[in-house]
Amino acid sequence: MSERTALYEGKAKIIYAGPQDGTLIQYFKDDATAFNAQKKDVITGKGVLNNHISEHIMLRLAEAGITTHFIERLSEREQLVRALEIIPVEVVVRNIAAGSYARRYGIEDGTPMEEPLVELFYKSDELNDPLCTEEIAVRLGWAKRWEIAAMSEQALVVNDYLRAFWSDLGIDLVDFKLEFGRDDGRVVLADEITPDGSRLWERGTGRHFDKDVFRKDLGDLTETYRALHARIFGEGSG
Ligand code: TMP
Repeated sequence: MSERTALYEGKAKIIYAGPQDGTLIQYFKDDATAFNAQKKDVITGKGVLNNHISEHIMLRLAEAGITTHFIERLSEREQLVRALEIIPVEVVVRNIAAGSYARRYGIEDGTPMEEPLVELFYKSDELNDPLCTEEIAVRLGWAKRWEIAAMSEQALVVNDYLRAFWSDLGIDLVDFKLEFGRDDGRVVLADEITPDGSRLWERGTGRHFDKDVFRKDLGDLTETYRALHARIFGEGSG
């Protein structure tokens, strides 16, 4: 690990050059941040839990016919992925109003949506990931029009799959964020799918199984992710 070349360090992961051309290694850190890193902490064990959770979900998505960058998990904190050119537009899918959407439009948290909503955000720490439109993303050169269409379409397919996946575990998928990359003229699902970038509410109780526990100081984040991991992998009662 130590002799690897770090290509990029993000808030929750480090990206290293991979062993073969066209591959990268994603290393999951224990760092948790919120509000564009105005709040941060080290959450012991988070990286390991997220690595396992994201591996599991990416493998299930691949079985469902969705192409992702995931190749294999290498260790407790590392996974081998295909190297893509990340498109700097984050795709958020919402099924229930919460978070920035509820705040922005004055809607009560927990208000269901008749249909899933796709929102686009420009991936820029400096600008605090501003909401954007397809028109703006195309005009400012962040993505091609067909790429935005492909990302939005894939995000809705992933949403259908993930809603059923979480629902089987007694959890409502409120919203989540995806990132995509370019690979040989295609748009491919990248990054991670974890409770860091999803809102997951236990059906019936409303218990949060996601990073809002950290954002809002609702409890112990490692315990929360451990319980979620147990639910996914069927260990104990979770
Ligand atoms: P939001 O309600 O704050 O816009 O977040 C929507 C979803 O996107 C939520 O599940 C958390 C996730 N998200 C990220 O993964 N990274 C981010 O930087 C932000 C702001 C949200």
